[in-house]
Amino acid sequence: MENQLRDIEKEAMEAIEKASDPKSLEGLKIKFLGRKGRLTSILKSLGGLPKEQRPIVGKLSNEIKARIEKAIGERMEALKGLASGPELIKGFDPSLPGRRLHLGHLHPITKILNEVCHVFEKMGFSVAQGPEIELDFYNFEALNIPPDHPARDMQDTFYVDDKVLLRTHTSPIQIRTMEKMAPPIRIIAPGKVYRCDSDVTHTPMFHQVEGLMVDKEVSFSHLKGILTHFAQEIFDRDTAVRFRPSFFPFTEPSAEIDIQCVMCRGKGCRVCSQTGWIEVLGAGLVHPAVFRYVDIDPQQYSGFAFGLGIERIAMLRYGIDDIRLFYDNDLRFLKQF
Ligand code: FA5
Repeated sequence: MENQLRDIEKEAMEAIEKASDPKSLEGLKIKFLGRKGRLTSILKSLGGLPKEQRPIVGKLSNEIKARIEKAIGERMEALKGLASGPELIKGFDPSLPGRRLHLGHLHPITKILNEVCHVFEKMGFSVAQGPEIELDFYNFEALNIPPDHPARDMQDTFYVDDKVLLRTHTSPIQIRTMEKMAPPIRIIAPGKVYRCDSDVTHTPMFHQVEGLMVDKEVSFSHLKGILTHFAQEIFDRDTAVRFRPSFFPFTEPSAEIDIQCVMCRGKGCRVCSQTGWIEVLGAGLVHPAVFRYVDIDPQQYSGFAFGLGIERIAMLRYGIDDIRLFYDNDLRFLKQF
């Protein structure tokens, strides 16, 4: 009888340890300790034992019953603890609203850059690219700017060594494209450029989009039409645009294109240096000397090129009066776009 009791205890303890929920524990309680349970039936049969054995077996049965009850109680507590785990974490209040996830978005300059590229892509221009660390040859010489040409003073250049520099404009991509492709050519080339320059309308790193179209009988009126359409797509239809004669060694004739200052509506302010206009791009017809560098016959072909400043366009679009704000990485500023 004693062995039978110890087997029941062992079996009960193993089952209690394995129980994974309160319901199965309740079942074990009934199975071992209930009115028709296995331990209870042994207690009921005590009367059939010899007189001297009854107290010994009775005492052992009661001890085992107490141990099983205790084990069931402890396992029940442990299972309850598992079920309500997170609520027990100190300071956790499940009734509070969840934390908001902050989604990132494109930088305003990237947005404008994509928008500008899209306007030209719709007009049939495809995208070309070139290196930011450029050879002096492509940045200056092949653009008709020889080493001693005064035009080199126009751009303060970050030189890596005598022959290598950080490109000061996207115009070298004109040369790289015409070296590889025969006309007809119609490309835009977006990218970063670098100049030693910093004030309210200048940053040392900024973005340009170069444009180049070469074909038979391309004229200045094509350039004017395309750039006017571009300005109307990016700004309001009634935003004033002006073409101003200018000089670039790689275009002839050359022009600079200004947009009416949106900050002062043309009245004059610190952003437009009291002129009422902000220069956004340089342009012109490709100089015959440049065509000769890339073996294109200027008697047969003509072309136009332009280079526009993305930050200036972003300033006008968003009404920003200091270009340097775009690169301060102040989230209070960037979150507004
Ligand atoms: C050029 O860079 C010529 N390569 C443009 C060109 C291309 C002319 C093809 C003819 C044919 P410019 O130095 O003017 O030109 O610069 C072009 C535009 O870049 C300017 O109109 C202005 O919008 C922008 N820009 C120039 N310097 C800065 C600067 N430091 N920070 C921000 N934008 C600038």
